Amino acid sequence: MTEIFQDGRGWSPHPQCRIRTGPIAEVVDEELLGPTPTSQLLLRDSGIDPEKLDPLRKILSERAPLIERVVAGGEACKSPEGWQQILQIFAEVAIDRGGLVVVAGGGSVGDVCAFAASVWHRGVPWIAIPTTLLAMVDAHIGGKTAIHFGGIKNRIGTFHLPRAVVSDISMLESLSLQERSMGWAELIKAAWIGDRPLLESLEQSSESIAADRMPRAQQIAQAVAVKVAIVEQDPFDQGSRERLNFGHTLGHALEMLSSPPMPHGEAVARGMVFAARLAEQLGEAVDGTAVRMARLLQRVGLATDCDELHLESILELLQGDKKARAGQTRWVLPRRPGEMVVRPVALDVVERVLRLPPLGGIVKPQS
Ligand SMILES: NC(=O)c1ccc[n+]([C@@H]2O[C@H](COP(=O)([O-])OP(=O)(O)OC[C@H]3O[C@@H](n4cnc5c(N)ncnc54)[C@H](O)[C@@H]3O)[C@@H](O)[C@H]2O)c1
Repeated sequence: MTEIFQDGRGWSPHPQCRIRTGPIAEVVDEELLGPTPTSQLLLRDSGIDPEKLDPLRKILSERAPLIERVVAGGEACKSPEGWQQILQIFAEVAIDRGGLVVVAGGGSVGDVCAFAASVWHRGVPWIAIPTTLLAMVDAHIGGKTAIHFGGIKNRIGTFHLPRAVVSDISMLESLSLQERSMGWAELIKAAWIGDRPLLESLEQSSESIAADRMPRAQQIAQAVAVKVAIVEQDPFDQGSRERLNFGHTLGHALEMLSSPPMPHGEAVARGMVFAARLAEQLGEAVDGTAVRMARLLQRVGLATDCDELHLESILELLQGDKKARAGQTRWVLPRRPGEMVVRPVALDVVERVLRLPPLGGIVKPQS
């Protein structure tokens, strides 16, 4: 078992969040669960195999009566209606401040349930059991909650750190290869941002990773440690947390311009490689950085070029971006593994790099 603490003092009802990686039956104990609750609610993502939660049900029901409800998984649940449905469940089950909400699901179910938990009685404790790779390394780490509103993603939300996060990789067995790839984009991002040894070990084992795209528990724990270290420096996202947006400047544009919207992990993978090419052009990174990054992302099934998309629309969108100031946009650029720089870049340089020939590779973008 690996345990990482995230300091929650000063901004959360809990002094810290315990993040454990390992089989549920081995890592969930009284210390992790906290005081015996007055009521207990398990909210389960409809996508997961219900039997996988048997060990959790057993542990929870030995402490207090347990009520379980299913939440339809996927982005659609992150709506005002989806949020109200969760509040309805809280009302039915009469969750009070001494209650405990346990959420087993992907990032979407986690975001909407955590948002509901953050406002119910001005905040009830919750425990996260992430069931997608993306939720294990990213969405359920850091305390951000959100729903979409008026066609804009994550427009409404709060900060509400869970009491604990438990990542059991056996949950990922039922996850599609494509969903696993989405999580790999964030895991590789974390390695590039803050853990060079992790990056090198991923590169060395890329052949075995490519076979089933299943991560090792230790790799998840290392990626989590990168995010926790950054979030602790900047819990309310006002400065250094910006580094976590590596790959997101272009990534957001790609998500917004593609129809149906390009999955987040795919967009971030392309955004990271683009940022690396930009860094090379600006002399921030050595030549070959983008190819190195693309090679690993492609091994986990992610396309890394964006040549099938309309460059003019990308530029127009970046120009209109609220972060664009006097013909410049802000980018998180890799210097070398483990070292990022956040800086403005002139739009004409961005355009020049967008017009470079694609890097190519084993995974071709789909039009
Ligand atoms: N709060 C944050 O800091 C943060 C950070 C990153 C991403 N996010 C959010 O996370 C969301 C994406 O999360 P995601 O990638 O986990 O996708 P998701 O939660 O939308 O789940 C994708 C699909 O996988 C299914 N699923 C979940 N677990 C499964 C399992 N074990 N086996 C089979 N199917 C399973 C779900 O039912 C759903 O159909 C986005 O809304 C994004 O905004 C939040």
